Amino acid sequence: MSNYHIKHLEEYYQVYRKSVRNPEAFWEEIAEEHFVWRKRWDNVLSWDFTKPEIKWFEGAQLNITENCIDRHLPTRGNKTAILFEPNDPKEEAEHITYRQLHERVCKMANVLLEKGVKKGDRVCIYLPMIPELAISVLACARIGAIHSVVFAGFSSNALSTRINDSDCKLVITSDGSYRGSKTIDLKGIVDKALEACPGVETVLVAKRIHSEIEMVPKRDYWLQPLLDDAYGDNVAEIMNAEDPLFILYTSGSTGRPKGMVHTTAGYMVYTAYTFKNIFQYREDDVYWCTADIGWITGHSYIVYGPLANGATTVMFEGVPSYPDFGRFWEVVQKHKVTQFYTAPTAIRALAKENLDYVEKYDLSSLKVLGSVGEPINEEAWHWYNNNVGKKNSPIVDTWWQTETGGIMISPIPYVTPTTPTYATLPFIGIQPALMDENGTEIKGNQVDGRLCIKFPWPSIARTIWGNHERYRDTYFSAYENMYFTGDGALRDAVGYYRITGRVDDVIIVSGHNLGTAPIEDSINEHPAVAESAIVGFPHDVKGNALYGYIILKETGESRDKNNLRKEINQQITEQIGPIAKLDKIQFVSGLPKTRSGKIMRRILRKIASGDTSNLGDTSTLLNPEIVQEIMDEAL
Ligand code: PRX
Repeated sequence: MSNYHIKHLEEYYQVYRKSVRNPEAFWEEIAEEHFVWRKRWDNVLSWDFTKPEIKWFEGAQLNITENCIDRHLPTRGNKTAILFEPNDPKEEAEHITYRQLHERVCKMANVLLEKGVKKGDRVCIYLPMIPELAISVLACARIGAIHSVVFAGFSSNALSTRINDSDCKLVITSDGSYRGSKTIDLKGIVDKALEACPGVETVLVAKRIHSEIEMVPKRDYWLQPLLDDAYGDNVAEIMNAEDPLFILYTSGSTGRPKGMVHTTAGYMVYTAYTFKNIFQYREDDVYWCTADIGWITGHSYIVYGPLANGATTVMFEGVPSYPDFGRFWEVVQKHKVTQFYTAPTAIRALAKENLDYVEKYDLSSLKVLGSVGEPINEEAWHWYNNNVGKKNSPIVDTWWQTETGGIMISPIPYVTPTTPTYATLPFIGIQPALMDENGTEIKGNQVDGRLCIKFPWPSIARTIWGNHERYRDTYFSAYENMYFTGDGALRDAVGYYRITGRVDDVIIVSGHNLGTAPIEDSINEHPAVAESAIVGFPHDVKGNALYGYIILKETGESRDKNNLRKEINQQITEQIGPIAKLDKIQFVSGLPKTRSGKIMRRILRKIASGDTSNLGDTSTLLNPEIVQEIMDEAL
């Protein structure tokens, strides 16, 4: 079991060096010793970042669900695989053992087959955090269908765009969902989305909130009766290493969302290996990641990574504030959670509340705390460390992306000494580089630059669905022979990395990636709007919030401004989802533009954050006078 479980810093450096000196030999050993294969690979890695083309374990055959489920049955059949904690604490938690998971995944796989889904077909999953979500994901993987999970907070418009982009023929959803004290009409959202999706033939509907919904004949089917009739075993489809496993959409700074394509073998190996080390996972642990499976964090570190290790993974349907702000800690106490992985925005929101909510509960089971999705500020880090970890549980600040598939820069708990706000060291096999604006690598320590990765790792996304050119342009064209992350970072005196934030037009709001262009497009569709520009500004809970500068058409000038603000946010909610709503809307008569007509967002960002001390040279603008006007009326 060499190198699978790193236990001290010296070992980290040793294994890291090995993984960089000879990546093929390193990953081959990990793949060989810790997974089950139907056929061994012919070649560990071939890659070319100029095309770009990356292939890991070419020639190998496997099914990821055999690694996540079947192989555990002889030794862990009665162990809880998924521990489902419902929205309402009065509803009992559900323990799904590996054996039960096997049966439920096989049944779901058989239902999909019976509905005509074949290997390579795309299936859209639009479900709340209920067991059917994880089971549907695994069932797709079982039969070689490509799952495309769409976060169930997205609007019908966002859903239909994603369904059509990848030509999904089947959608799995539920009648509705619980969210704290509210219910959401998911099926209604799906129905509306499908008006624009002629390719969808079948909708499978799980029952969750028992609401009255409309079922379209010959298209919509209640899931449960189909599952009841399905056979409880299924022979897994044999997949090639590089067959797509899933598509997951992420926002770009411009244009439509990007369907990142992850493939099978490399993704499995990397998510499993990172899970084991970054959470120092041991057999009897109860691991809880609070993310939604609709995001990459949920794919890699609720479903695939934990299950590949035979772990118990908690799936939480609820929200941190319901029935009160102690909910997370109540769940930790109740299930004796050992690893807890959440987002800084949740920590900041909870830190604002009374400490009693935390102190009331016994959190002594915790061994590792994780953070993901955005930079964790120093205050939130200390609150988490002091009040949740009681200074006894190391915090792993894990930096990664939808595109990277797995954690890239992170401490290994009990191995890497942590420093607040630092993601610290590259994980095994990861070769970061900081680049300057001219494309030169900045070597040495105490430097900052744009964060790139020099060498492929097993779980890197292989393409953007249907648009390989965009994949190349977005990630591989900024710097020669490098994957460009879109983030800035600094490397301190000891070589620790600190992520400083996006260097493009993506804004991270409450840990969610939002591109400015799609939001601006949606605002500009409002009949009263002529033009708009969105920037981020610091927010004490969300990390960043959105500030919109909007130029109205003449027809809009006479309208009530507060009503207009509401309508614009309503429009964004309908087209993208409530996460993209603007916190502040300032109506302006113009936007600062360069002579070539490009909006100077740098200036707008400064004004939005209330820092107008150093706006830089504005004299080269096409319309320098507008800056003063915007400043005078800033919100
Ligand atoms: O800017 C970085 C930020 O989130 C971006 C990736 O977002 P997404 O693809 O939605 O994946 C989020 C979950 C993996 C990154 O480019 N980000 C993520 N983790 C961190 C972070 N920024 C700072 N520190 C982190 N730990």
